[in-house]
Amino acid sequence: MSTSSIQAVANALDASARVCVLTGAGVSAESGVATFRDPDGLWARFSPYELASMDGFLANPERVRDWYNYRRAIINSVEPNAGHAALATLERMFGENFTLVTQNVDRLHQRAGSVRVLEVHGSIHDNRCNNCDHVRSDDELVCPNCSSAMRPNVVWFGEDLPQDVFAAAEGAARTCDVMLVVGTSADVWPAAGLPMTAKMAGAQIVEINPNHTSLTQHVHYVLAGTSAVILPQIIEAMT
Ligand code: OAD
Repeated sequence: MSTSSIQAVANALDASARVCVLTGAGVSAESGVATFRDPDGLWARFSPYELASMDGFLANPERVRDWYNYRRAIINSVEPNAGHAALATLERMFGENFTLVTQNVDRLHQRAGSVRVLEVHGSIHDNRCNNCDHVRSDDELVCPNCSSAMRPNVVWFGEDLPQDVFAAAEGAARTCDVMLVVGTSADVWPAAGLPMTAKMAGAQIVEINPNHTSLTQHVHYVLAGTSAVILPQIIEAMT
């Protein structure tokens, strides 16, 4: 698939009634938040099995909590970038016909002004009880309801996604006219399946990513570039 033009994508958005966007770690890269699978990404430096699995948490909860606190500190020290801002603008254009599905746990979309956000991998800013699913935004280590251990409220390897949130994401994918897939390797399932769900339901799929991914060959438009550069250009080109 050769690179498409910004104007062609802007025209497709102008012609569509419903828009869905799927974002991944690449959207926050230009804010200074590391991605996972790029050469300088988190999984090149840290073990996902030790830090992002229930087995890793049970083996060493302190190590896991320390790592999430380290990442929270980075996220709290950065700002949303022009890509986040452009997606918030797109939401204001489409209103309730716009859904942003994010795999990101950093809440930078919300800080940029996005409201209709489906966090399919949870949020790093909250903790959740391992036993009763009680969610808290403080750093309490023990659940006040059932005394079980609190853990980061993110989806770890081997865990199910929050069912209601993912069902809403699938609904948005099935009913959109255009889906933008931005800054994701599209390697982590089931979120990686959303673009094909949208395509099979008839949507035009646009990938925005500086690199090829396993999805690239299946999409209608490829914009090879970074999200903080490409997304504002698309908004600018829309009528
Ligand atoms: P990955 O790290 O797998 O992929 C990041 C993607 O962003 C790559 O395809 C890069 O080419 C692209 N990228 C890098 N910089 C970019 C930029 N400035 N603009 C646009 N794209 C850029 O991240 P995800 O696909 O989000 O799970 O990973 C999916 C899940 O795997 C994450 O949600 C995380 C991880 O395990 C949890 O935290 C639960």
